[in-house]
Amino acid sequence: MIDPASKTSNTPQAEANESLDPADWGEFRAQAHRMLDDMLGYIETIRERPVWQPIPDEVRARFLGPAPRQGEPLAKVHAEFMRDVVPFTQGNVHPGFMGWVNGGGTPVGMVAEMLAAGLNANLGGRDHIPVEVERQVTRWVREIFGFPEGASGLFVTGTSMANLIAVLVARDAALGFDVRSSGVAAKPRRLTAYTSNAVHGCVPKAMDIAGLGSDALRLVPCNSRYRIDLAALEETIEQDRAAGFTPFLVVGTAGTVNTGAIDDLAALADLCQREKLWFHVDGAFGALARLAPELAPRLNGIERADSLAFDFHKWGQAPYDAGFILVRDGETHRKAFVSPAAYLKRAARGLAAGSPWPCDFGPDLSRGFRALKVWFTLKTLGTERLGAAISRSCALARYLEARINATPELELMAPVELNIVCFRYRAKDSDRVNEEIAVRLQESGIVAPSTTRLEGRTVLRAAFVNHRTSRAEVDALVENTLAQGRKL
Ligand SMILES: Cc1ncc(COP(=O)(O)O)c(C=O)c1O
Repeated sequence: MIDPASKTSNTPQAEANESLDPADWGEFRAQAHRMLDDMLGYIETIRERPVWQPIPDEVRARFLGPAPRQGEPLAKVHAEFMRDVVPFTQGNVHPGFMGWVNGGGTPVGMVAEMLAAGLNANLGGRDHIPVEVERQVTRWVREIFGFPEGASGLFVTGTSMANLIAVLVARDAALGFDVRSSGVAAKPRRLTAYTSNAVHGCVPKAMDIAGLGSDALRLVPCNSRYRIDLAALEETIEQDRAAGFTPFLVVGTAGTVNTGAIDDLAALADLCQREKLWFHVDGAFGALARLAPELAPRLNGIERADSLAFDFHKWGQAPYDAGFILVRDGETHRKAFVSPAAYLKRAARGLAAGSPWPCDFGPDLSRGFRALKVWFTLKTLGTERLGAAISRSCALARYLEARINATPELELMAPVELNIVCFRYRAKDSDRVNEEIAVRLQESGIVAPSTTRLEGRTVLRAAFVNHRTSRAEVDALVENTLAQGRKL
């Protein structure tokens, strides 16, 4: 005899109730709309909040509880999010955020992320339109940077990962793709790479991860504008060749992290062509200055790079994370990562069609739909509006430069090349005073610059990336720096 209970649990309705979907879709929908509204309200009223505020101990302590065994209502967890998470974020959505290099995001990027999460697409491979969206963005990126049709592109977490991929492709191109199985230790040639001493720390890290060692990255001095010294670069390459090393890669930077300097990319392209070296450009934030007509000529030579790394989550204003790697020779790129596996067999038809797949161009097999937020951003805002926001960031940097030059208590510490301004409050104990000013400004919740070291000195550093930042925040930075400096 059939047990009536088991019969019930076998009905499609009963099985559906065992899924993790809401039991009451109407109630869930109403709650989800409240959550969307709250988040839009958060962005709309961002100026009414502090940029950042210290996290009270009791708030931090609430994140120490054990893993939940039983679920709680969504509304309750959302209330917790609004109370404990929202007020204590980094603050890069706020126009007063000027630290490091962080994008502000946009409402359109936020809703696109929601749509991507709803589709729950896995962009490792297979034949579906989300992969075509990524391919379309890749074609747009090629067009923006003047790369040829055969160039390959891939969304990654950020420029740190994009630079790593570039180093690996360049390494394999230099040593032969069998290095992927033999390992670098089996190769007699000792590869060396070249960049300026203003390089971002992720490039030496990439050399380390690639098994080449960060010491094999030669840090060439910069000129007075923090651009790589080309004569010193040539000399270092020559010395290394004479000493039996095999130079293989030059990394130029389009927008150095400290000062926003742009290396002479055309000269680096010439040098790499002459010396037969791989030319990679780290354009983490600066590359997208290509969208601003008056800045674009400063990036001349970028179109000749063998590979280019940059982020859409910085000046592209897409929500985190959205890094991108573009490689001139897509086939070389593919050969550096493609790995056969029976369970990833390709087909001419069906879901397993569409080879090569994105997983053939990088280390990740499971990949989210990062492309969608960028696709929405580019389609709704257009490259011209994004370019205009980039121009405005640079105009703000020049405005701050002018205010510093007109204020005897302040001192400009590096040429303003793009969107970054390094300066300090003049004081006897300058390093300590400026470090303290930065912390006090951050704690004030009004503006949040960061600090860096230039020529052995601590300086205040304001990077304008957020499209919401205006002269009002620049004025607040100057006035509050002076007020804090005078108190110290
Ligand atoms: C010049 C440069 N390169 C690389 C990076 C690292 O990029 P990501 O933080 O996206 O990994 C940054 C970050 O600010 C940068 O400014």
